[in-house]
Amino acid sequence: MGSKRRWYFIWVICCLCLFISSSGQALNNLTHDDLDDLFQDYAFKAFKALVRPRTGKLYNAALPVNLSGMEASVVRLRRGSFWVRGANFSTFHIPPRIIPLPYVKRLAIVYQNLGNWSSYYYRVPGYALVAPVVGFMVYDASNLSATSITKLSLSLRGDPISIRFPQVVLPEGSNSTIRCATFSEDGSVLLSEMTLPSECLGHDQGHFSLVVSVPPIAVPLKRKVKLWKWWAIGFGSGFIGLVLVGLVGIVALTFVKKNKFGEMERRASEGEAFDTVWIGTSKMPSARVIRTQPVLENGDAP
Ligand SMILES: *[C@@H]1O[C@H](CO)[C@@H](O)[C@H](O)[C@H]1NC(C)=O
Ligand SMILES: *[C@@H]1O[C@H](CO)[C@@H](O)[C@H](O)[C@H]1NC(C)=O
Ligand SMILES: *[C@@H]1O[C@H](CO)[C@@H](O)[C@H](O)[C@H]1NC(C)=O
Ligand SMILES: *[C@@H]1O[C@H](CO)[C@@H](O)[C@H](O)[C@H]1NC(C)=O
Ligand SMILES: *[C@@H]1O[C@H](CO)[C@@H](O)[C@H](O)[C@H]1NC(C)=O
Ligand SMILES: *[C@@H]1O[C@H](CO)[C@@H](O)[C@H](O)[C@H]1NC(C)=O
Repeated sequence: MGSKRRWYFIWVICCLCLFISSSGQALNNLTHDDLDDLFQDYAFKAFKALVRPRTGKLYNAALPVNLSGMEASVVRLRRGSFWVRGANFSTFHIPPRIIPLPYVKRLAIVYQNLGNWSSYYYRVPGYALVAPVVGFMVYDASNLSATSITKLSLSLRGDPISIRFPQVVLPEGSNSTIRCATFSEDGSVLLSEMTLPSECLGHDQGHFSLVVSVPPIAVPLKRKVKLWKWWAIGFGSGFIGLVLVGLVGIVALTFVKKNKFGEMERRASEGEAFDTVWIGTSKMPSARVIRTQPVLENGDAP
């Protein structure tokens, strides 16, 4: 009984593990850091492809086929120019008076647009993205052929960074308020109100998008379906496991029974297990039966 249960549990757990690993792999293929590194890599490749990349000009990065749907562009600026003029490229207006750290002579701003991959890589529980995830990162670009590129940190002394979202796709029938979503490096999300229509403010480099809250019914419904699926899979695999275990049990039992009968016969013939007496020429069980007979004959048993 105990081993049957153990096998049943092992079976169900194996099935669940397979299910989890197969569904989790597809979604968590690339981390956000992996993506940022890829964008940085392809952006700097765009520079290297040119004989003499111009400072202050935005270049589009050629992305591989497996990233199609995403966009990346890059601009190289002198530190002084960045301090005085900021940078107004792509969907970001980066104001003047920002200090990149550590000190570098030139820096590169890599802009990202995750396009139709946005909701694949970035999620906000209870909310739906209504604009693509856009982002920017600042790197040391003093030496374009350096083997490792340093990411810089920014110290804002003036106005915040403003982000313009060109395409806002509202889900049908939704008129809930659009909020700005700022994705932190540690994976947390900060939601804030929009300052102007289709504009958000940021205080650091990173990733941004727009979200609307989705009706609260939609989330538990999805979860219920999922839970139901899991139960079905658990029970289904459990049932199959039980049937298999049952079959094995029946086969084992028949073997055991056969063996037992064989053993009993063997033992009986060897006279090991029973006290036997010889009456005439036949083998008989011990005298117990004979002792009880007189009681039955007298009929005065209680
Ligand atoms: C997921 O990772 C595998 C290898 O680990 C790779 O072959 C595949 O292209 C990746 N898929 C996506 C969508 O990044
Ligand atoms: C995309 O394809 C390139 C080769 O074209 C490969 O080196 C890279 O690992 C792939 N990236 C992903 C995320 O699958
Ligand atoms: C995004 O669109 C490209 C084609 O433009 C396609 O190859 C890619 O599979 C799409 N990505 C997703 C997550 O749908
Ligand atoms: C930034 O560039 C956009 C056009 O790309 C322009 O409409 C906007 O006025 C510029 N902002 C500043 C502050 O220069
Ligand atoms: C740039 O980096 C490359 C590779 O690390 C190195 O060989 C070269 O000397 C560097 N150039 C400067 C000017 O530091
Ligand atoms: C949509 O907005 C209108 C007013 O702007 C409001 O009366 C209505 O209740 C809203 N609908 C939903 C589903 O929030």
